[in-house]
Amino acid sequence: MSFSQRTELCGDLRAENSGKTVVLNGWAHKVRDLGGVTFVDFRDRSGLVQLVIDPTKIEGSGEIRTECCLAIHGQVRMRDEAVRNPKMPTGDVEIEVTSFELLGPAKPLPFPLSDEDQMQSVNEELRVKYRYLDLRRPAMHRKLALRSAAISKMRAYLDARDFYEIETPIFTKSTPEGARDYLVPYRLEPGKFYALPQSPQQYKQMLMVAGMEKYYQVARCFRDESQRSDRQPEFTQLDIELSFCTQEDILQLIEGLCVTVTNDLIDQFSLDLEKLQPFYRMTYADSMNLYGTDKPDLRFGLELFDISESAGESTFAVFKNASEAGARVRGVRYPGGIALSRKDVGALEEFCKEFGAKGMASFYVARDANDGEGVITLPSGRFIRGGCAKFLAPSEADAILDTAKAEAGDLLCFIADDYASANNILGRLRNEIGTRCNLRDPRVLKFGFVLDFPLVEWNPEANRWDSVHHPFTAPKTEDMQYLADEPGRVRADCYDVVCNGAEWASGSIRINKPDVQARVFDLLNIDAATQQARFGHILEAFQFGAPPHGGIAPGIDRYIMLLLGEENIREVMAFPKTGQGYDPFMDAPSTIDPQQWAEMGLRLS
Ligand code: AMO
Ligand code: AMP
Repeated sequence: MSFSQRTELCGDLRAENSGKTVVLNGWAHKVRDLGGVTFVDFRDRSGLVQLVIDPTKIEGSGEIRTECCLAIHGQVRMRDEAVRNPKMPTGDVEIEVTSFELLGPAKPLPFPLSDEDQMQSVNEELRVKYRYLDLRRPAMHRKLALRSAAISKMRAYLDARDFYEIETPIFTKSTPEGARDYLVPYRLEPGKFYALPQSPQQYKQMLMVAGMEKYYQVARCFRDESQRSDRQPEFTQLDIELSFCTQEDILQLIEGLCVTVTNDLIDQFSLDLEKLQPFYRMTYADSMNLYGTDKPDLRFGLELFDISESAGESTFAVFKNASEAGARVRGVRYPGGIALSRKDVGALEEFCKEFGAKGMASFYVARDANDGEGVITLPSGRFIRGGCAKFLAPSEADAILDTAKAEAGDLLCFIADDYASANNILGRLRNEIGTRCNLRDPRVLKFGFVLDFPLVEWNPEANRWDSVHHPFTAPKTEDMQYLADEPGRVRADCYDVVCNGAEWASGSIRINKPDVQARVFDLLNIDAATQQARFGHILEAFQFGAPPHGGIAPGIDRYIMLLLGEENIREVMAFPKTGQGYDPFMDAPSTIDPQQWAEMGLRLS
């Protein structure tokens, strides 16, 4: 018997195979030595099946230890009725082992792979250091299988629509996407460096100038930026670009791709998710106004409200003073918040202060006149109490309840600040309330488009306008009139796809006219010499019959996170980096030999 004579996969064995002689290859997932008999849960990539070994008949079976690699010769038989395992697809059968070959013995393991509960508390760095073991777990295996299927379905969707898959260079020059570049020293001319691409943005635009018309790439991107649970220094985009297209064409393409691929994957992997609905659409301005963020979680409502108009007349000094100073007064409902103690509300205020709030005013909407102490009855017959209730004129309070669409039992929370700060704080508070009130259905993926982003935003620290997306994004034709004098008012043909409070994809229609591109560079304070040095190649290319074009790039890692409900991007990558971009398996980054320093013409300062 040899491993090369493998007849079946473990996970495929069923009652109808009973009596069959089989050769299996795999790993000993769990070994239970009961004295007279040894049971082994035997695993390959298809699943698990139980082996039964009689140590008196099978010589050397004591060498079978957890996670050793084996070839097994044996016979499938039905388990006794009493010990069938309905939770295992192969739970009706077991394999009576007649011989085995130890293909790879295993040392004691750094963590217990077969115990999912214990694995939850294993240190992340240890898991990444021994990733080749961590990935043996069926749960991890399934994530990579899903990722592979997702990418293959994305390719199929685009291939069916006549896209070319084209690779673009990794050794290149800086392409601005808002992060720091990773640099690679160039040996032949010390002092010169390649930059690793933050995205294939410039190349994909050049492919449009080159007449490819429809391009995609499963593209690795590199960004040296602070890490978060949904960011890695290298990650993968499904990068797409088209010529002669409108924004609408791109939106329909990406929505079609996402709905088709997701619904296929839900079926194939029996994911516990509702089928995707058509995407919602919202402007950036509405998204900020209603949810305080450009990536709203629309699994729940709780729209922000605004009482700025009446705040100037308020009898509550905080509202009145803020209004007179030109600030806005905005708020959000906390359904059932009347159950919060004064201390709890204090903690909520501290939460807001972490994001720069000067304070958080609030009051409860009581259910009746006896619902707590100091209840105030309003002219409308509704009831309020606590917090700033006593400072508000009753008619003003009534108007606030109307604006807030308040319900009995709510806590109403208010932030007085400039529009952007109030939105930032309230957007986070809304999310916090969503979590506390359990308003997020984990079975729903609520995808939608946020449209009409502003072209630029003011950067007060650097005292200049910065691109909201990137400098190649086209201003809306009807807003070109504001470019010179009111750049903050110019909207761009720029869109994001967001899902459940996370950004999934970004894209735009690009500038294809050199004069417009130069005006945008001017606005961004990139002077003529820098324009030429950094982007001269693009400006020149646009002088050779550049077609109108645009594109989009969804993050593939983030997509798999959404499908699996994973909180950390590391869970969906085969070989992720830990914090600070470290790879504990390879021990990378690492020092280099003195000779390599010399070859590169480098010295540490
Ligand atoms: P953008 O920079 O918005 O756009 O990136 C597009 C998508 O890539 C994913 N993403 C990341 N995923 C993991 N780790 C990271 N560090 C990370 N950074 C970004 C997100 C994001 O929505 N060239 C443009 C696209 C275009 O205009 O066509 C671009 O890269 O899912
Ligand atoms: P003060 O008058 O500073 O004691 O504040 C009275 C109440 O108003 C407290 O609950 C503060 O948290 C709240 N408050 C103060 N400043 C603001 C603000 N800018 N926005 C909302 N509430 C505020």
